[in-house]
Amino acid sequence: MKQSAKELLDPTNLVIFGATGDLSRGRLIPALYRLHERKLLPRSFHIIGFARSEFSHEEFRSQVKISSEEWQAFAKKIFYSPGNFGNDRDFTKLANFLTKLESKKHNCANRLFYFATLPSHYPTISHALDKSGLLKGCAIHKRQTRVVLEKPFGADLPSARKLDKTLNSYFSEDQIYRIDHYLGKETVQNLLTVRFANSIFEPLWNKNFIDHIQISALEERGIDRRGAFYEQTGAIRDFMQNHLMQLLAHIAMEPPQDLSTESIRDERAKVIKAIKMPTAADLKEALAIGQFEGYRKEPDVHPRSRTETYAAVKLFVDNERWMGVPFYLRTGKKLKSKFTEVSIHFKKSSPDIFQMNSEIPNVLSFEIHPNEGIFLNISAKDPGFGIRLHPVTMELGYHSAFQGEFPEAYERLLLDFIEGDQRLFTRGDEIEHSWKYIDEVEKYITKTMPRVEIYRPGSWGPNTAEQLMKKDKKQWHIA
Ligand code: BG6
Repeated sequence: MKQSAKELLDPTNLVIFGATGDLSRGRLIPALYRLHERKLLPRSFHIIGFARSEFSHEEFRSQVKISSEEWQAFAKKIFYSPGNFGNDRDFTKLANFLTKLESKKHNCANRLFYFATLPSHYPTISHALDKSGLLKGCAIHKRQTRVVLEKPFGADLPSARKLDKTLNSYFSEDQIYRIDHYLGKETVQNLLTVRFANSIFEPLWNKNFIDHIQISALEERGIDRRGAFYEQTGAIRDFMQNHLMQLLAHIAMEPPQDLSTESIRDERAKVIKAIKMPTAADLKEALAIGQFEGYRKEPDVHPRSRTETYAAVKLFVDNERWMGVPFYLRTGKKLKSKFTEVSIHFKKSSPDIFQMNSEIPNVLSFEIHPNEGIFLNISAKDPGFGIRLHPVTMELGYHSAFQGEFPEAYERLLLDFIEGDQRLFTRGDEIEHSWKYIDEVEKYITKTMPRVEIYRPGSWGPNTAEQLMKKDKKQWHIA
């Protein structure tokens, strides 16, 4: 049988810390399973779960089991090593287990470590990995060690810097993979492809032609028993600081010199750095926050909590390309339906030769949920006598245009991690720049205590968010 290119990848062992948690069970194991089904994993590949519970390999397999045909073959790749993050002996046991696994295969392997834990454990795990010698690669066979971390990366700029300092004392930047799973989504990737692979867009992609840009990530789901976590973050830290900022970076960045990791990361970092720092007076006009009715009754939520479950903001990117173009960002929970989209609203053409006042502005939208695709609203002539304008949509619906099942974000990101491709992972400075802006917003909220409007679950959010747009004679875009 012919080997697929992926089967020729270096032997790899992936250790998941916090292997019995929701992330591991709900996202990581299913994504790895699908990679196995697609035959994209290296031929020699093992998953080693690490967590406190005293499971045998077999018990752990049944904990993470997926009912599917191929499960038995996949389960053979899964092992378990119980342990405590702060216990050196447990890490020595893990190291011995990996060595045994590798010597059975007569081959040393890349050793990858997934931190699927609370960020407060990151320093302890990093220290233990270092001390146990697990971070050493194999120079003879050119095997590497890498770590992947989940957000939140700090709670503000000082804590993000502190975390980075800790990580950098154990790992080099090329070993660190910081996940923002939005970067693994198909349509998000397409933002760059469409912009830079088609010559028609670049001339229009600036303040001369674009009136404003909207980035929306609206969710139907609530906080899913994550009250304690959400009380610390709120919508701004949970979603805006990372996913929305990365979407903004992709839509607004300058063309990278090439497709190398550093060129792409440099351009993303530059645009986030260029976000104009708002004053309190700016934010008074440009920020709307809300909380869904019933939030205060969720487990682990303070009965008088002011935590925002919805936030909308207007900001500016202070560079030559975007000077004066407003970017409207919004995110919220318990809303009418899930809707994630980046839309580019073009200026009306002038002069209006049709003089009908009915000219509809062109909108180019990249829809991420629910209908993955790219849509362009244009005005066309209504068929028949005379000239009447009619809005029509040119669409590239992903599922109708391309056959087959698309990889889910975690599948793509895990595969990149296994292959050692860092392009879709964020660099420390991108995160720090976005905290700089978010810290200003949080400071304003703490200081001035603006109204947190209670909104009805199942609505589109607080009225103040609608007013934010109305003041600018605009409205939120809904597909
Ligand atoms: C996570 C947030 O990063 O993204 C959650 O912490 C949010 O609050 C989730 O629900 C949304 O991800 P997706 O892929 O379902 O849009």
